[in-house]
Amino acid sequence: MRTTHSWTSNTATIHVEGLQAPVKMLHITDAHVSCIDDRDPEHVEACATHQARNVPREAFFHALMAEAATLSLDLVALTGDIIHYPSQAAIESVDQAVAQVDVPVVYTSGNHDWWYPHIKGREELRSVWWPMLDSLTKGQASHASYVVGGIQFILVDDSTYQVTEEQLAFVQEKLKTDLPTVLLTHIPVSLPTLRDRTIERWKDPILIGDPNWSVERRERWRTDADLPSTLEFVRTLVAADNLIAVFCGHIHFDHADTLSRSAVQYVGAPGFDAQKRLVEFLPL
Ligand SMILES: [Fe+2]
Ligand SMILES: [Fe+2]
Repeated sequence: MRTTHSWTSNTATIHVEGLQAPVKMLHITDAHVSCIDDRDPEHVEACATHQARNVPREAFFHALMAEAATLSLDLVALTGDIIHYPSQAAIESVDQAVAQVDVPVVYTSGNHDWWYPHIKGREELRSVWWPMLDSLTKGQASHASYVVGGIQFILVDDSTYQVTEEQLAFVQEKLKTDLPTVLLTHIPVSLPTLRDRTIERWKDPILIGDPNWSVERRERWRTDADLPSTLEFVRTLVAADNLIAVFCGHIHFDHADTLSRSAVQYVGAPGFDAQKRLVEFLPL
């Protein structure tokens, strides 16, 4: 599928062969809204430091959603760490902000959405906390797809640094269509131009399918060696002729680079700095 891409740190313009009409999307990631109240009494004390940082974060996210409501959008994509931990207060705040927007708002979770930083555990915690996010994920936390304006949007929760066999099978099935397809996910795929900057910022290449991230170093990020399905997921994306873009976050700086002949991977700067990316898909 022929595409052309151009971008700045907060925009992307993607021309797509066969697209009939423009589609406009706002991408927001990593807002890290972190408020908590006595509805979650067992976590209040441990979250006090994070809550102290919340005021601008919550205000930025509500302002971003208020702005989204004025932009004549077709879709808002939220790609994880929108909340810093799954407190009822944080989820309620995000729900209220999202309610200002009258176009579809799609949501895939990040490693923070389902995790309290003071609680030990890995991916087993995700399935426990996913149901808390039902109002945002529409009960489809693992993977989902939507067609908007002739573009297929696939959401995959890769926030454990892994993609499961079930998620892989879903993506492969969805990519069999002829529709131009966009992947929305939290953690970016490791690309040569991205991994060095990621290591500079985070000391480790905290990305999907990184070829040189040792098992020992993965321990502090609560993950293990790549599953075969994770590696196959990366190969599937690179080989897919109708994948036109990936939008993601997690590493808290903006980046864009070629993923395949047709697709660019766009990493969003964090919502906690009031950042967003306005994306226009246009006929080629
Ligand atoms: Fe984040
Ligand atoms: Fe993250």
